[in-house]
Amino acid sequence: MKTQEIVEAIAGKAILAPLTRGGTPAFRALCASYGAEITMGEMAFAKFLLKGDRKEAARLRRHESETVFGAQIATNTIDEGARACAVAAERGCDWVDLNCGCPIYEATRRGLGSALLRKPPKLARLVSGIVAESDLAVSVKIRLSPSGDDDVNFPEVLELLSELGDLAPAFVSVHGRTTTARYKTAANWTAVEAAARGPLPVVGNGDILTYYEAEARREAAPSTHAIMIGRGALTTPWLFDELRSRDVWLPRAAERVDVYWHLATLFKAHFGDDERGRSAAWYFFPWHFDFLTRWRPLPEDAFGDMAKRRPLVQSSREVDDVLIKLEGPLSSLDPLEQLLRCPIPEAHNLMAAALWDAGSSKDAVAALDRLATPDNLATWAAAKTAASGTADELEGHTPRRGKRKSQ
Ligand SMILES: Cc1cc2nc3c(=O)[nH]c(=O)nc-3n(C[C@H](O)[C@H](O)[C@H](O)COP(=O)(O)O)c2cc1C
Repeated sequence: MKTQEIVEAIAGKAILAPLTRGGTPAFRALCASYGAEITMGEMAFAKFLLKGDRKEAARLRRHESETVFGAQIATNTIDEGARACAVAAERGCDWVDLNCGCPIYEATRRGLGSALLRKPPKLARLVSGIVAESDLAVSVKIRLSPSGDDDVNFPEVLELLSELGDLAPAFVSVHGRTTTARYKTAANWTAVEAAARGPLPVVGNGDILTYYEAEARREAAPSTHAIMIGRGALTTPWLFDELRSRDVWLPRAAERVDVYWHLATLFKAHFGDDERGRSAAWYFFPWHFDFLTRWRPLPEDAFGDMAKRRPLVQSSREVDDVLIKLEGPLSSLDPLEQLLRCPIPEAHNLMAAALWDAGSSKDAVAALDRLATPDNLATWAAAKTAASGTADELEGHTPRRGKRKSQ
């Protein structure tokens, strides 16, 4: 797509954010089945992509069900960026996003990701150089600053990018937090709105978990061109449907199992329904339960006011406190419901295995019912209590079992 086409395609939409480890074609297809029209791939290091690394190339692969698909690359040279855009075009991507927000050391030590925000003029030269060479539209994803509150420089970055004229990016996605904030603070949508008042189309990103929070952010930042959703989709893949219907779906445990079984079938279709496919999928599929088990019923009448004070994705403890009053303690819920809210990796692995082996959604419910024994639930509840002193709930994502951490 060309610049104008992608700008029109995303107008007013909710974009599925780039999600390392989470944004595989299988997961994106699940979101697409719930109405996600604009989706993005995992960040690919341009350097390794161009050396022919198969894992990096896989990050550019689109799923047949995706309507508009953007690849995300990390690079700090025009030549690499332009050549990576050519590869993305060959592979059928619709546009390419340049990652300028990744805070993880693996990227910043190479001068990539949010390290690019340290020198805005250099970043502007990089972007204009890639745009000039690329047949595809190019967007940019940033945070508010290259490090903390002391060097907030998104206005300068946006101004320099907007001065590039024909060589400006198609749009800029603004994740409303500084690099060092990671997920510890709520996203700053006042800053997002300030960014969006400039000439470039801005996509606002941060802390959208429910349709009513999406609407509140749109009201707080009316100049934004579109919104972007990361953890909200990982927790509630059907969120895109809720945004459209302006309603919260409160699926029963068996209905959620059906969604998760569907994800298993998508992974099988992608990696292969055999031992090799399973072993390739295992880096990704069990990992999803770290987010899927965070799903909670969040009807607006019970949580709308709380959401006005603080984003619900940042308030998991308070949410659970309210739910105890509404539903009773977790231990009083149906065993399957308890299992589906279990944060323990061992349980996630067993759940993923049961879903993978199930021949139907009904079989999957039966298999997970068998896992939700009083003994298992008690063991995992004890593990959760033991871990709760050390886990940083506000981190939003507990990095584990992986080389690349979340951004
Ligand atoms: C597991 C995980 C992986 C992520 N991977 C990427 C990535 O590859 N590229 C990127 O630009 N941002 C990445 N992010 C950041 C998200 O795209 C998004 O900007 C951030 O999570 C804020 O949005 P949210 O509050 O809706 O989650 C990742 C976030 C998470 C939780």
